[in-house]
This record gives sequence, structure tokens and C-alpha cells, in this order.
Amino acid sequence: STAEQAVSKRNAGHRAAEEVADGMVVGLGTGSTVFFAMERLGKRIAEDGLSIAGVPTSYQAAIRARRYGIPLTSLDEHPELDIAIDGADQVDPALRLIKGRGAALLREKCVCDAARRAVIVVDGTKMVETLDAPVPVEVLPFAVEAVSRRLAALGADPVLREGVKKDGPVVTDNGNFIVDCSFGTIADPGRLETAIASIPGALECGLFSAYTEKITVIVGEEKGCSVV
Ligand code: A5P
Repeated sequence: STAEQAVSKRNAGHRAAEEVADGMVVGLGTGSTVFFAMERLGKRIAEDGLSIAGVPTSYQAAIRARRYGIPLTSLDEHPELDIAIDGADQVDPALRLIKGRGAALLREKCVCDAARRAVIVVDGTKMVETLDAPVPVEVLPFAVEAVSRRLAALGADPVLREGVKKDGPVVTDNGNFIVDCSFGTIADPGRLETAIASIPGALECGLFSAYTEKITVIVGEEKGCSVV
């Protein structure tokens, strides 16, 4: 990502941290934009005595949160969250999302579902008229071939995600595989999400189409940000 993108991400992240109030339990998403929100939350904890607890959506989020001094708790401890802050890979005008570039989509969707509000932080390059990025699907390794066939029947070109400093498939924090599915332009994201969810062994997909009511999107810009 470019230097301008990094500035935009920082502006979005810092703005999102202002949505968090004392005493809140906060879902902590995964990815570089959320880092900036965590950084600001850590600062508010250290300097202003802000008291919060975070529920991390990944090992990465947990490691970063600890580094920034954000106390952690679990979804079991707090099955209802006041707010979740998370990134996204694409956002459409109805505030439907594609997530999962970082392979954290399963826990991210659990946390988004459990949160009263979801604040999504992005830079402007993520805003699109129509969702068309590959949809990541977290798949039970036992069923990866069968699930891939079903995904192909839905019109995808399923590709097993492989090899990030490792030979063979990427294994998620939950011990599963990721199959990236290009569908081209997605005319009806809700319908596609439901269809994928009906495949046994497809544990979750990166389409977030059911949360438009509780989502606020903060689009970082080079100077400031806009709230959608
Ligand atoms: C993680 O699996 C994704 O859903 C992230 O939220 C997404 O990829 C955003 O990452 P960046 O903020 O680094 O672009």
C-alpha cells in the first residue's frame, strides 16, 4: 500500500477510536487499518485513564492489543459487545462488505454479529459501486474438495490459498483452510452469502451483507475522513 493509503488508514483508525467510550467492551478486528484504532485506544488508556476491554478476532489482533496495552477478554465472557472496530476489503454503497484478506473472517463475523455497532475503517480505494473481489471462504480441511465443487457450482473459480512463508495451504487461527472464490461482479451478495452458508464444511464466507443497519463506515482520507 502506498504512503497516501497509510495516512488515510491512520486517519480512519484514529477517528474510529473516538467512537469508544469508558467501560465499553470492544471487538478488535484484524488488519493494518484497525492497528491505528488500537494504537489510539492504547494512548487513551495510558493517558486519559480510559477503561475498556477488547475481544480480539485473531492472534494478530491479540498480539497487537497486548502491545498497545489494551486489556483483553473473550466472547464467552462478553457475548454481547458494545462496539466492534474492523477493516474490510471492499464496501458497497449499501454498506455490504467483503472481508477476509487476512484470513480472520470467521471470528470477525462472530464478533460483528455480537456487537451492537460495527465501525468499519477503510481507505477510499476500498469503496466500490458493486462488490467484485474474490470472496474468501473458511473451509473445514476434511471437506475441502467437496466444498470447492459446490462453490464452483455457484459460479466461483475456487482457489485454495497457499504459501505465505510456508509450503502448502494457509491454516487459519481456527485450524481451517481458506478457499478464495472469484465470482466476478456479485449482483446479489445476500443471496450468495446464504448459498455459501448452506454448504456443509463451508464454515463462513467473507461476505457481510446482513449488518448494514449497525455498520458505520469511516473512510480515511489524506486529510481527515468521512463517515458513511
Ligand atoms: C481480515 O481477515 C480482513 O477481513 C481485514 O479486516 C481486511 O483485510 C482489512 O485489512 P487492511 O486494513 O490491512 O486493509
